[in-house]
Amino acid sequence: MIGIIGAMIEETEPILAKLEKVNTTRIGGNYYHEGIYASKKVTLAYSRIGKVNAAVTAAILIERFKAERILFSGVAGAINANLKIGDLIYATRLVQHDVDITAFGHPLGFIPETGDFFQTDPRLNEIAEIVAKERGVKLGKGVIATGDQFIADQAKKEWIAKNYNADAVEMEGAAVACVCASFGAPFFVLRSISDAADMDAGFNFDEFLKSSAKISADLALDMVAKL
Ligand code: ADE
Repeated sequence: MIGIIGAMIEETEPILAKLEKVNTTRIGGNYYHEGIYASKKVTLAYSRIGKVNAAVTAAILIERFKAERILFSGVAGAINANLKIGDLIYATRLVQHDVDITAFGHPLGFIPETGDFFQTDPRLNEIAEIVAKERGVKLGKGVIATGDQFIADQAKKEWIAKNYNADAVEMEGAAVACVCASFGAPFFVLRSISDAADMDAGFNFDEFLKSSAKISADLALDMVAKL
């Protein structure tokens, strides 16, 4: 079974609309939609926003629904100036930008017995590249930084760029990565840019959330068909 997570209704809805034979369960306040896409069994989860919600959702998908791999689909703020609204990026590595135990001599983002950067699954990344090429869609890749903050500030954005060499920022990916790494489940994080994490971010996010979420959902579904 393939687990798919979206953090907002706008992120899950375009995927849910394409699932067949849907059976929905509510666990811990989140919704899990079991269904079929391209003859593949999938469970689409609506996690709600943030690292804690995303972590619980990933754990439930793996333990209760027996997800063998997890795809995340949604939107992100661009840190890398080459990324424009609507562009797609998948994570090669993810890090929690709001983890700080530097007081004990650890690097920013690092947690003992957990690490800092989580590597995504090379096979899933390769499938994304193949699907994007087939569809003639431009697909970027790079570091995605995750934290429980909506970044809408140039100084904070530059701080994340400098400390983590991040290309995009969002609020769930590294939490899903951390859980999947702990459980040994391959994972993949796909995001379409909704804003540039700057002073206009809130305004741009509201305007482009739906269209960018759909761009990500479409590629994620094409990947499912290939798995
Ligand atoms: N998701 C989309 N845009 C974001 C931003 N600017 N900060 C955090 N998460 C986001």
